Amino acid sequence: MKVITIKNQEEGGKLVFALLKEKLAAGAKTLGLATGSTPLTFYKEIVNSQLDLSELTSINLDEYVGLSASNPQSYAYFMQQHFFAAKPFKNSFLPNGMAADLQAETQRYEELIAKYPIDFQILGIGRNGHIGFNEPGTAFDSTTHVVDLSPSTIEANSRFFDKPEDVPTQAISMGIASIMKSKTIVLMAYGEEKADAVNRMVNGPITEDLPASILQKHPDVVVVVDEAAASKL
Ligand code: GLP
Repeated sequence: MKVITIKNQEEGGKLVFALLKEKLAAGAKTLGLATGSTPLTFYKEIVNSQLDLSELTSINLDEYVGLSASNPQSYAYFMQQHFFAAKPFKNSFLPNGMAADLQAETQRYEELIAKYPIDFQILGIGRNGHIGFNEPGTAFDSTTHVVDLSPSTIEANSRFFDKPEDVPTQAISMGIASIMKSKTIVLMAYGEEKADAVNRMVNGPITEDLPASILQKHPDVVVVVDEAAASKL
């Protein structure tokens, strides 16, 4: 696990953009993408660049159950707004949170990941150490699955919704095993409220209680943190 500390989120976005360009030059074809505020500066770098992604594929980590792509709180909408509208891929996949058969949807998604192996996976981290929506306690061998969101995640996400009852309580997420298949993983974390999770991910035991700790076992992980998120390392 390589940890790089940078001054702030702006610098982080630039650094990860440089890493991406290196991997694209080396032949990367499929990008694994994340939502949340963390990757936004990275996406901005891409959107403002000359990069042409029209021959590449993107696969997102997760989506809320019950929100359609036209709902402004859905991750499909977020991706469209912050990334895809300006820089379309050849194919962009997200789990379908409106699928009538959610189990079948998780299977379809796992098959997609097998068909388009992820070369470069972007991750943020939750305050409780979750990656994607893999909450503490998720099995390390999990594949794409339906998740009951933890109270702390629901609370953290409620800032984006008008009413508490609008906040989804379930999501479809790539599993830990699906994420670990990615060739390169870049996890970004910014801000003091991530410092604890970052420290446990890097220095703590590898345990399902802290899902991101599994990354210690991956052969090509870069962790990009600002000084606040690195403050407990
Ligand atoms: C959500 C997403 C994660 C993201 C996390 C942190 O739970 N499913 O993929 O990493 O939030 O969000 P933020 O980057 O806004 O701190």
